[in-house]
Amino acid sequence: MNRVAIIGGSGLDKLTALVVESAHTVTTIYGTPSGPLLEGTLDGAPILFLPRHGATHGIPPHRINYRANIAALRDFGVEEIFAVTAVGGIGPETGPGRIVIPDQLIDYTSGREHTFYDGIDAKLDHAEFGEPYSATIRTRLIHAAARVGIEVVPHGVYGATQGPRLESAAEIARLQRDGCTLVGMTGMPEAGLAREAGLHYANCALSVNWAAGIGSTPISLVEIGQHLTQGMASVVQLLSAALRTL
Ligand code: HPA
Repeated sequence: MNRVAIIGGSGLDKLTALVVESAHTVTTIYGTPSGPLLEGTLDGAPILFLPRHGATHGIPPHRINYRANIAALRDFGVEEIFAVTAVGGIGPETGPGRIVIPDQLIDYTSGREHTFYDGIDAKLDHAEFGEPYSATIRTRLIHAAARVGIEVVPHGVYGATQGPRLESAAEIARLQRDGCTLVGMTGMPEAGLAREAGLHYANCALSVNWAAGIGSTPISLVEIGQHLTQGMASVVQLLSAALRTL
């Protein structure tokens, strides 16, 4: 059965619109995922929901067991993942409040368990990753946004940083020179693992601040909180619309 999952990020640790039917507590050979897989319906569409920071937002970006999360979803029969992330905006179109569907990424993280080809089950492969996000899911999100009148930026380069601290202005200037238009802490290794697992995966990124040195004022955690609350409502509306097309 073709199952769809939503991985929630900051601001979407709980999917209140989900009508939960069951909660599956699972373990994998890579350890335990961030929480039980919540099975239910979102606006009538059957999905699994997994908050990557845990239900109470306790797991920092570098401690998330990305392998267990992706392996658990794959083992549960998931084939498509809509991943929600909160990001800082670097490019002119990606200011606070904008929803971006990136088409590329650059990984600046370190020290994270980032591959399934780790000698555990004696297999080795080299996943093709030229286009790191699923064109099918990206298109579905972009078309759904147009249908329900939610403005999205239909492209972007996601720079994945280590966190949990925010970046220095010089670090962001470097990302900008590299071509990144948004920055977040959890987009990798999640996308790479999804590709290794053979899953269709796309990132629905909500900008909640201008990245360091880009805006005219220092980053305010209060403003981030406000943009998370306001913006995630539109993100959920967009996800519901995209799921209706399945
Ligand atoms: N940097 C990294 N991750 C983020 C940011 C940021 O400015 N905002 C939200 N997540």
